[in-house]
Amino acid sequence: MRAVQINSFGSTENFNVVDLPLPDPGEGEVLIRVGAAGIVFADTQMRRGDYVNLPALPFTPGREVAGIVEKIGPGVTTVQPGCRVMADMHTGGYAEYAKAAVRDLVRLPDSASCLQGIVYLVNLRIAYLYYYTFGKVQAGEVILLHAAAGGIGTLVTQIAKRRGTNNVVIALASSDEKLEYCRAAGADHCINTLTTDYVAEVLRITGGKGVDVSMNSVAGATLQTDPLAIRPRGRWLINGYAGGRSLIDPNAIMPKSLTLSIFSVYTVRNDEEFRKATTFLEEWLSTERLDSCTRSFPLEAVEDAHRWIEERHSYGKIALVP
Ligand SMILES: NC(=O)c1ccc[n+]([C@@H]2O[C@H](COP(=O)([O-])OP(=O)(O)OC[C@H]3O[C@@H](n4cnc5c(N)ncnc54)[C@H](OP(=O)(O)O)[C@@H]3O)[C@@H](O)[C@H]2O)c1
Repeated sequence: MRAVQINSFGSTENFNVVDLPLPDPGEGEVLIRVGAAGIVFADTQMRRGDYVNLPALPFTPGREVAGIVEKIGPGVTTVQPGCRVMADMHTGGYAEYAKAAVRDLVRLPDSASCLQGIVYLVNLRIAYLYYYTFGKVQAGEVILLHAAAGGIGTLVTQIAKRRGTNNVVIALASSDEKLEYCRAAGADHCINTLTTDYVAEVLRITGGKGVDVSMNSVAGATLQTDPLAIRPRGRWLINGYAGGRSLIDPNAIMPKSLTLSIFSVYTVRNDEEFRKATTFLEEWLSTERLDSCTRSFPLEAVEDAHRWIEERHSYGKIALVP
């Protein structure tokens, strides 16, 4: 089978598309013929070697696929060859076939294409955990959402507007095209971070008060500016560093008594909260109007796909189609 492989951490030039033997599903595993392999920002961090829990080299990246079960391993009774499924995994998704544990499968409804399902498999559960588990967003709260046009950001907005009660989303993104996408997802206010002082604009929108909660996956310089945009005793959630690592000044937080939460959703991977997120995902897939990937790339164009998300061109979800 054709698969993407990384032999050393680094730039997009480190990708190779190679021929590998077809993986054999072991006990409790299935082999999936991949229809779409999702790309997340963290894949770029893993490729660079700037990530916790790095896999051993060489490896095939890709943590999520949608497709059709090709073969089942011993002990598998809940799915059969031919079933339409999605699976999350640590690595191995950027390939024609991928192996996954049966416990990590979610059924892909007949009404959804692979390029639709993959928008939601990983990201909707993460958005759920941001919003409910870690964010504890209450009715009527105003949310400041960084990288709002991204794969996860779009779904946080959709949860707030479709399931929240009178919540207001202030979306931040780096281009007017991305802000149009945020508006279509339901964002109430949209701010272009490259042309506008977002703190001043947030204070204007909130009548000088600041937001109840900021969800920040960007870090970088925003770790200095965000406290200015949050109300006294508000909440500051930091869940990524797409804009680079930097330091937090306690003196910026203390006078406002902000509650700071810096978290990884993977800490609840085996908890009841993750099971609730999976139920939420299954319900959403069968009841909501589904988006599709905004762009898909053939396996051989994996370099372009990573550059697309890394150079901040992407909005919504992007995927590889083997
Ligand atoms: N804490 C957790 O457990 C957890 C789990 C999964 C993902 N994450 C994090 O959540 C974030 C969103 O993930 P995603 O896969 O949905 O990605 P994404 O939002 O689709 O893409 C990343 C976004 O980061 C923004 N960004 C800001 N500064 C950037 C820079 N200097 N370089 C590149 N991008 C920059 C870009 O939006 P603009 O150009 O509009 O600013 C870009 O669209 C990522 O930071 C990821 O690491 C955290």
